[in-house]
Amino acid sequence: MAVTTIRSVGVVGCGLMGSGIAQTCVQAGYEVVVREVSEELLHKGLQRIYEAWEMLVSKGRVSREQAEEYRQRLRGTVALEELASCDLVIEAVVERMEEKLRLFTALDRLLKPEALIVSNTSSLSVTQMAAVTRRPQQVCGLHFFNPAPVMKLVEIVRPITASEETIETVRRFAESLGKTPVLARDTAGFIVNFLLIPYLLSAIRMLENGMASRDDIDTAMKLGCGYPMGPFTLLDYVGLDTTLWAAEAIYEEYKEPLYAPPPLLRRMVAAGLLGRKSGRGFYEYS
Ligand code: CAA
Repeated sequence: MAVTTIRSVGVVGCGLMGSGIAQTCVQAGYEVVVREVSEELLHKGLQRIYEAWEMLVSKGRVSREQAEEYRQRLRGTVALEELASCDLVIEAVVERMEEKLRLFTALDRLLKPEALIVSNTSSLSVTQMAAVTRRPQQVCGLHFFNPAPVMKLVEIVRPITASEETIETVRRFAESLGKTPVLARDTAGFIVNFLLIPYLLSAIRMLENGMASRDDIDTAMKLGCGYPMGPFTLLDYVGLDTTLWAAEAIYEEYKEPLYAPPPLLRRMVAAGLLGRKSGRGFYEYS
């Protein structure tokens, strides 16, 4: 008796990923409620979405009326209870398991029994999140990539407890957003981060060891491999804290040195040099 057609969507977290996901869902025609923990963070997240729509209007991609209509289908709140009637809730809060487990327990109590809950986690165990609910068959991962409105891929992460019906409903939902879904088992890093994280960590090790400069490593991978961004630009874009958490989660599962966070990454995160979002990472941003 789980929902098979999604009409209303709740997004928990309106940070970099949550705001991009909420924006994507609105643009695909859904009614969306997005929740943040404080009015200040909510305002910041909503502003990011409104600015993206302004940019689309200024480029002539959407009309002023369309952007207005988008705004009407997006509601921000600081009260989790306002998500109670949603068919699907997408969790996009900070990558800490305790936070996720607290949230999944609260959502499970609040939502109608047939609602689905998905996590945007990039490397934590979705099975563990499913296990704290009374509806583990209706929980899976739905991992978006930054910037969520632009990147075409989503990873659907299947915990051993998820029903085939849930995976199918989430697959149809992902396609309705204009995304191409791939299916991964619930193992740390799924597909993309299992491959991407060692590449990013290797670039940091090269820099630490003085093998080449930041700029030359970035230029090499852009022009030599045709990547849209070099590894340091991408690290700053993704966030050094997010990269560290992903590396730690994969290292914890496999204990492979390839995934061990290099000292420079740990020091930069400790110093608050998180990349674009903090104004400085491997590069400086004004
Ligand atoms: N919201 C909406 N649209 C956006 C946007 C945003 N935040 N950012 C860029 N765009 C749009 C632009 O408006 C532009 O649209 P048009 O072509 O219609 O004009 C288009 O995207 C391209 O943007 P730009 O011209 O500004 O710049 P670009 O061509 O350099 O592309 C980029 C920007 C798409 C970010 C590109 O550099 C890129 O693909 N970078 C790699 C990103 C990547 O690898 N992401 C995955 C990170 S890993 C991750 O997220 C997972 C994890 O768990 C860590």
